[in-house]
Amino acid sequence: MIEITDLTIKYNDTQILNHLNLNISKNETCAIIGPSGCGKTTLLYTIAGIRKATNGQIKINGEVLTTNRKETGVILQGYGLMPWKTVWDNASLGLRIRGVSKQEMNKQITAILSELDIYQHRNKYPSQLSGGQQQRVAIARALSIKPDLLLMDEPFSALDAITRESLQSLLIDLYHKMNITIVLVTHSIEEAVLLGKKIIIMHPSNGCVKRVIDNPHFGDHAFRNTTEFFQLCVEVRNEMEGLQEC
Ligand SMILES: Nc1ncnc2c1ncn2[C@@H]1O[C@H](COP(=O)(O)OP(=O)(O)O)[C@@H](O)[C@H]1O
Ligand SMILES: [Mg+2]
Repeated sequence: MIEITDLTIKYNDTQILNHLNLNISKNETCAIIGPSGCGKTTLLYTIAGIRKATNGQIKINGEVLTTNRKETGVILQGYGLMPWKTVWDNASLGLRIRGVSKQEMNKQITAILSELDIYQHRNKYPSQLSGGQQQRVAIARALSIKPDLLLMDEPFSALDAITRESLQSLLIDLYHKMNITIVLVTHSIEEAVLLGKKIIIMHPSNGCVKRVIDNPHFGDHAFRNTTEFFQLCVEVRNEMEGLQEC
């Protein structure tokens, strides 16, 4: 679904991504992991069509990406909710921009807020919600447009461990229910191993992909308690600490 070829991004004269190549299949989840500053957000913004490539290209479903696509849902770091809008108005923003009728919008937003268990908070403002509830609103807004691709930047890193685990499980459930490709960026090894069917390890400083690991255990809720889970975490950690080049 996503073919990234020779992608190079520079900020002024500093090279952030460097001839990066990556393929992501349709209806797969892919976790991009790397230390802070290695270029994860830059890569995600470029896949979203928000940032332009200095060189190279991204194709989505065979088409060269030139701007943001209407079928891509994006959740930026820090949720990106508007503090002056209620849960309902934040969640329905995407559909309103797309000119969906009021009746259809009411139906869809009621369904997605119920699915995410936040319908009862629909008249509250973001500041009246916990971090986990705010993230649910951001997920509802991104999913309301029925995206074929969902991009998430460090979606659960600001949450406490219990809330994080329940939202990670929710994301796995949503993935199984919807025909969707998910690309998420994280600096957590455990999160990458839990949520990535494909785990993309970025080089800490060279702006390229160091290794791609296929994760056959993805999607199994019991996976996080198994020895295979911890083995895979160790494999990812060793790869991140290794000194070899891309
Ligand atoms: N708008 C910008 N202008 C200049 N440099 C930037 C800008 N955004 C990010 N950078 C730099 O690019 C590098 C990669 O940033 P980023 O993609 O945010 O990394 P990550 O998400 O992995 O932490 C960092 O060194 C950062 O300082
Ligand atoms: Mg980042």
